Amino acid sequence: MNSAQRPERFDEKRYGRLLETRSFGRHLVYVEEIDSTQRLAAELAARDAAEGVAVLSELQTAGRGRMGRTWHSPPGKGLWCSIILRPSLPLSQAPLLTFLAAVAVCRSIRRSARVPAMIKWPNDILVDGKKVCGILLESHAEGEQIRHVVAGIGIGVNLEKSDYPADLASIATSLRIEAGRPIDREALLADLMKELENLYELFLAEGFQPIRALWEALNCTVGKRIQVRDASGFVEGKAEGMDPDGGLVVRLSDGGAVKLFSGEIQHAEPAEKPGSTDEK
Ligand code: BTN
Repeated sequence: MNSAQRPERFDEKRYGRLLETRSFGRHLVYVEEIDSTQRLAAELAARDAAEGVAVLSELQTAGRGRMGRTWHSPPGKGLWCSIILRPSLPLSQAPLLTFLAAVAVCRSIRRSARVPAMIKWPNDILVDGKKVCGILLESHAEGEQIRHVVAGIGIGVNLEKSDYPADLASIATSLRIEAGRPIDREALLADLMKELENLYELFLAEGFQPIRALWEALNCTVGKRIQVRDASGFVEGKAEGMDPDGGLVVRLSDGGAVKLFSGEIQHAEPAEKPGSTDEK
């Protein structure tokens, strides 16, 4: 194994020196191996760990993805991280944090790796059409009030093509592959914590609208014809935009519209070009 392939240990001291946040990521629980950082972060949150406490692991043996899937988390080359949030919000607003996390990751990746990352609704981060990061938010509530949210972020940072199993090779990529050079994981995580903290404070002070504007500016879904699988089945139509309460507005072929708050895009077609006369 040459030095380019060897998994590197995350340098917590260097990360600490680069970190500029007030609270997010200041207390980083670093482990070499774990089943899932989501599980440990939820346990810490249940034991009253403070907002901003984060868990990072070099390797996850049972990384969790959305929709009950597993998350490929090989050692030393990714950022497999979960952070505890404690917003005073009704549970119904928890999904808004998912867009906030997507915006933070997307901006941070663009700045740190200088690759043209985009957000695919609701919160996948893509580069050149391939997934480079997934986000999983798990909320714990008492009645209608959020008690804590664990925001799980998995970024393929320095994985190489050979690190992906066959079923992921055509749909996933890493920052290293896209940028053509290794990416500094400590600097990326420190920058991400800062971006998350800034956007979270903006959200608490001014509400969802500024986050929504940032999400819209970075998303690659609006304007496309999409097919979405959600809890109630399949929806097919043209994504028209995100409305003020975080619903994705999808125009159906019969002229009606639906608003989607969760789900997964199964298929998306390129946006129609401006001025196109094709009236499909
Ligand atoms: C997705 O399916 O797109 C969401 C993937 C989320 C993966 C991250 S990695 C860190 C955290 N721990 C987990 O077990 N999952 C999340």
